[in-house]
Amino acid sequence: MLFSLDYIEIQFVLKERVPIIDVFIQEIADIGFDAFQENLNILSSYIPSINYNKKKLKGLVNKYNDFIISFKEINHPYENWNKKWESCFQPILINENCQVRASFHQPSYKKYDIIINPEMSFGTGHHETTRLIAKDLFKQDLKNKTILDFGSGTAILSILAEKLGAKEVDAVEIDKNANKNANKNLVTNNCKVIKIIDGDGNSIPHKKYDYLLVNINKNTIIKEFTNLLKAMKKNSMVLFSGFFESDIDYIKDLSIKSGLKILYSDLENQWALLVMKKK
Ligand SMILES: C[S@@+](CC[C@H](N)C(=O)[O-])C[C@H]1O[C@@H](n2cnc3c(N)ncnc32)[C@H](O)[C@@H]1O
Repeated sequence: MLFSLDYIEIQFVLKERVPIIDVFIQEIADIGFDAFQENLNILSSYIPSINYNKKKLKGLVNKYNDFIISFKEINHPYENWNKKWESCFQPILINENCQVRASFHQPSYKKYDIIINPEMSFGTGHHETTRLIAKDLFKQDLKNKTILDFGSGTAILSILAEKLGAKEVDAVEIDKNANKNANKNLVTNNCKVIKIIDGDGNSIPHKKYDYLLVNINKNTIIKEFTNLLKAMKKNSMVLFSGFFESDIDYIKDLSIKSGLKILYSDLENQWALLVMKKK
């Protein structure tokens, strides 16, 4: 999910916030929309303009005609979007000991004061999926553990893992601009054990990690599942997020078939976290 491109926002006015909205959002995600914002009965969905296909959108609108009152298209040229994003960026509390903020905010004096300069990458702590994993990291014992942060964005989860005692963190991210931002965030947070790696699942180093942190959409999890499994050994833990409550069973089935044991799940606003261990 990147903001270094021209984006198109489709703003839907819905009849009400009905449960089907999660299925609707999943279907919009499947046609390339990668960011969503809900405010009462208004749903804003964002897509890089290069991926926008009007015909596919019309198809979806027809399918969900019963609960869409209207929709409009708003263009966000790169520069405006970036400014808007930065001006909206507020510090976010992960828990009582941890805050994420930008360097232009006051220090928080929390034990874990993570500085993420938002620029254009995903991973500021404002999204449920980032928070679900970030909060869960405090339940884990990361001391001297090795970590793979897959789809690392700003490197927020890697930075937190290092602060929680990890001895080695490999952060693999497909987007080069996100990686530039991540490397700056590593310097700002005085990180020493994180390595940012350009690429997809094929670029995961040939190692077995104690923990995999995977906040990525359902389709990418499925696509990269074999690569992720290769990076696990007996008792490796994986924290999956980035998908909806309605997809939990699908991801569970896939994981069980691949020799993972489901330990527990968590939810925030219908976004899911699944924590598993390799048998
Ligand atoms: C939802 S964001 C998560 C960012 C950050 N880890 C967090 O928790 O906030 C997913 C990230 O995965 C990256 N990504 C998508 N597909 C990928 C792939 N096949 N391999 C590596 N990274 C990928 C995206 O560019 C994006 O930065």
